[in-house]
Amino acid sequence: MSRVDDKVALVTGGGSGIGAATARILAGEGARVMLADIDDKAAADAAAAIGDNAASSRLDVTKQDDWDRVAAETLDAFGGWHVLVNCAGILRRGSIEGTSLEEWYQVIDVNLTGTWRGCRLAVAHMRENGGGSIVNLSSVSGIVGDADLCAYDSSKGGVRLLTKSIALYCAENNLGIRCNSVHPGVIETPMVHNYIAESDDPVREREIWDGYMPVDFQGTADDVGMLILYLSSDESRLVNGAEMVIDGGTTAG
Ligand SMILES: NC(=O)c1ccc[n+]([C@@H]2O[C@H](COP(=O)([O-])OP(=O)(O)OC[C@H]3O[C@@H](n4cnc5c(N)ncnc54)[C@H](O)[C@@H]3O)[C@@H](O)[C@H]2O)c1
Repeated sequence: MSRVDDKVALVTGGGSGIGAATARILAGEGARVMLADIDDKAAADAAAAIGDNAASSRLDVTKQDDWDRVAAETLDAFGGWHVLVNCAGILRRGSIEGTSLEEWYQVIDVNLTGTWRGCRLAVAHMRENGGGSIVNLSSVSGIVGDADLCAYDSSKGGVRLLTKSIALYCAENNLGIRCNSVHPGVIETPMVHNYIAESDDPVREREIWDGYMPVDFQGTADDVGMLILYLSSDESRLVNGAEMVIDGGTTAG
């Protein structure tokens, strides 16, 4: 018996980084997985690498029509929907004085409202179909602030409490749905690599990221995928509304 072989999972941001690793790990433990991403080519490539247990679709998490279509495609392809992993996200530099209203709305729209859209749709489906598990990617930046990540921190703090609200609502109404947030530290993915490459001083920026976590190594997407596997499986049936930190001790002090 594999750990999630009775589950169908929809993973947003499935074309890259943590989303792609999570989809591969879930499929490796028996799940059937829909990889959804605004980069549909990347999602298709990642699904093809997994094999028959995976499909892919284009999803812009800011578009409700896309969400409705991808949910329907997931049900058509696999006959159920038990796990939602909200991995899609964007990282934009900017302090309170360095963030325009347009940039603010863009980050909130993708990271927070996009997650809200997915959760709302998943709860509506799962409550009528035996329950499920929702996993939302927040960040250590949803727990502690960064001077130059004003919009990102705000979006991830929002995801943290959105998750707890959903968790309580579903528990109090006996819907059989759990909702938890995951808070990674530094994970080596294209998001981090692009952020460093686009900085004014990439060498200095790399040093800052390398020194961010107290452990002497950086995290991998698989490290986070293994935690999401646990939260997706019935092994975590009592875990609800939790903020699962995976940051090498960054927020411990
Ligand atoms: N990498 C880290 O160190 C780290 C740390 C904390 C939290 N996170 C969070 O983990 C999640 C995954 O990040 P990652 O590091 O794998 O990044 P990544 O850039 O490798 O992957 C993000 C994916 O989201 C997709 N995406 C972006 N906008 C989208 C949209 N509007 N609709 C659908 N898909 C969209 C991208 O195409 C990409 O495939 C993000 O929410 C991120 O904020 C990452």
